[in-house]
Amino acid sequence: MRKNILLGITGGIAAYKMVEVASRLTKLGHSVHVVMTEGGTRFVTPLTFQSITHNSVETDLFTPPEHYNVKHISLADAADVCLIAPATANFIGKIAGGIADDLLSTIVMATEAPVLIAPSMNVHMFHNPILQDNLSYLRDKGYKIIEPGTGVLACGYQGKGRLPEPVELVERILYELRSRELAGKKVLVTAGPTREPLDPVRYLSNYSSGKMGYALARAASFRGAEVILISGPTTLTPPLGVRYISVKTAREMEREVKKYAPEQDIIIMAAAVADYRPVEFRAQKIKKGDKQGLNLELMPNPDILAGVGKNKREGQLLIGFALESENLIENALKKLEKKNLDMIIANDISAFAGDENEVTVINSTEKEKLPRMEKSELADTIMDRVIRLIAKN
Ligand code: CTP
Repeated sequence: MRKNILLGITGGIAAYKMVEVASRLTKLGHSVHVVMTEGGTRFVTPLTFQSITHNSVETDLFTPPEHYNVKHISLADAADVCLIAPATANFIGKIAGGIADDLLSTIVMATEAPVLIAPSMNVHMFHNPILQDNLSYLRDKGYKIIEPGTGVLACGYQGKGRLPEPVELVERILYELRSRELAGKKVLVTAGPTREPLDPVRYLSNYSSGKMGYALARAASFRGAEVILISGPTTLTPPLGVRYISVKTAREMEREVKKYAPEQDIIIMAAAVADYRPVEFRAQKIKKGDKQGLNLELMPNPDILAGVGKNKREGQLLIGFALESENLIENALKKLEKKNLDMIIANDISAFAGDENEVTVINSTEKEKLPRMEKSELADTIMDRVIRLIAKN
């Protein structure tokens, strides 16, 4: 849904990163309003933001508005969320001191929308006790402080004070705008591959990237659910607001799932669990030996989903995936029944590990083939179907 997002830009070199933030939010269909302090305009011109957002950029409290309204009040009222980034030590001090002497500080004072503040400055300025006191004071008052990153700073120093990357800032804003459809619901998602160790340097695993599971965890979290993500090894960053539990083997995943499953309302098992593990873990590296082949003896891993299905309690929703290379629907239906699921997402192996997926969503009464789409979009669509199913039950 289209939201009004107010970006407040103060005088820091990281202002350049806000061009991308404004662009990404606008491309997502939101209405972005940029307000700059005098210092902010020294780093990036208002025209840049105006061209990107297609909205006028406001800098001055006293220029008469085009339509009759009180400018700082109408901007403050219209905002669904405000992000002040980069926020200088001076601007932070001003808000903490209750000073409202320019357009942006009066908006911050007047708005009832959540205000996110992303400090960005020299490492010593950041650690200055006055600034730290101001930040904790603002935190206490309900302002949300986005921790700066650590790295090389524009001033030449190395340390804490970097404005987070635009994608992270955008994600933080979207999280703030999350809906409440799944508020009060507990959701558990498994994701990624498992790794079954063979010797100190080798393991058995599969190509799963974890993207689908992470996208589902994000979609649930962005609809207000309390989410636990239990993941095998991936290169992905856990979504915002999610409780993340990292595991390696199928048995570790099973242990964590069993611990949390009973209290969940919705359990989605997107992990590509290795069905087998080596019977024996060799403490020393397996040597090449002679030219003979090597026989590995494997034993079955627990079927985590089937175990949860057996103990499913009244009102709990259990959703599995079926990864097939042939007879997709037929095999998925078998798994739906055998594992006692409420819904199964049938996907062909062609989409495994890629950015897109093409699936059929199956429950006991309906089969719906969805068009091929990005995994993030698909996760949202699946979450719509889950919400529909909850409404029916
Ligand atoms: N699954 C699980 N534990 C396993 C194997 C699978 O929890 N040991 C879950 C997966 O997370 C997925 C569903 O079961 O939600 C189906 O996984 P899939 O690999 O398609 O099927 P399998 O049950 O392993 O059967 P097969 O490999 O014979 O197709």
